[in-house]
Amino acid sequence: MMTPEMRRPLVAGNWKMHEGVAEAEALVHSLLAGLPATPAAEVLVLPPFTALETVHRLIGSDTRLRLGAQNCHWETAGAFTGEISTTMLEPWCAYVLVGHSERRQLFGETDEIVRRKLDAVLAAGMRPILALGETGAERERGQTQAVLLRQARSGLVGLSVDQVSRCTIAYEPIWAIGTGVAATPADASEAAAVLRSVVDEAAGREQPTVRILYGGSVTAASAASLLHAPGVDGALVGGASLRAAEFCAIVAGAGA
Ligand code: PGA
Repeated sequence: MMTPEMRRPLVAGNWKMHEGVAEAEALVHSLLAGLPATPAAEVLVLPPFTALETVHRLIGSDTRLRLGAQNCHWETAGAFTGEISTTMLEPWCAYVLVGHSERRQLFGETDEIVRRKLDAVLAAGMRPILALGETGAERERGQTQAVLLRQARSGLVGLSVDQVSRCTIAYEPIWAIGTGVAATPADASEAAAVLRSVVDEAAGREQPTVRILYGGSVTAASAASLLHAPGVDGALVGGASLRAAEFCAIVAGAGA
């Protein structure tokens, strides 16, 4: 059985609605030039759908960089104008992010919808990254733990042990996303402990390999302390993932 110490960190770059094909191509070239031969972390990029094929081709057989999608629909096909299915993503992607707070807040995704998406990602043989986190108001009201428990249980309880083992959780406090104000390492650790308790609840303490990431205003300056906070196994990076040198420095921070 693996010990928690054996979890390899994951550093994921969420490009959001940035980078057309040409920009994506340039960014991936810079990343491949900037990453060391054997990065201390597994490194993942989540480009917009239109750049997936190009980025996939550029990565080729280079194992230093992996590819994921930012969102999916829960059905495999059908009359869902503007949506994309896991079947369509599977040729390109190893991971799919579900439940990002921008999806929850701006596009009305509920815990139930996020769970359907997570199930669809697992059914397609990819790995879901379940994003969750409290708002600033929930934090002020002392509801952080309750919100994390609700969102994590909704995402994981009822899955098989094998399915849980393929999940990654990203703790992203909403007040820290894109604000320049990251959580403290102590806050990230506290949240990771709550989320780890749900992993244990869902998988009977048999899945120490499930990684718990922190996301929200991660920069090269804050990465090392956040990535070494007890219980934190990596980072989900937004804005800083669009700057190759800074993203590579964050990856380096994971191993330092
Ligand atoms: P940020 O975004 O790093 O720009 O705060 C993180 C995210 O939304 O995943």
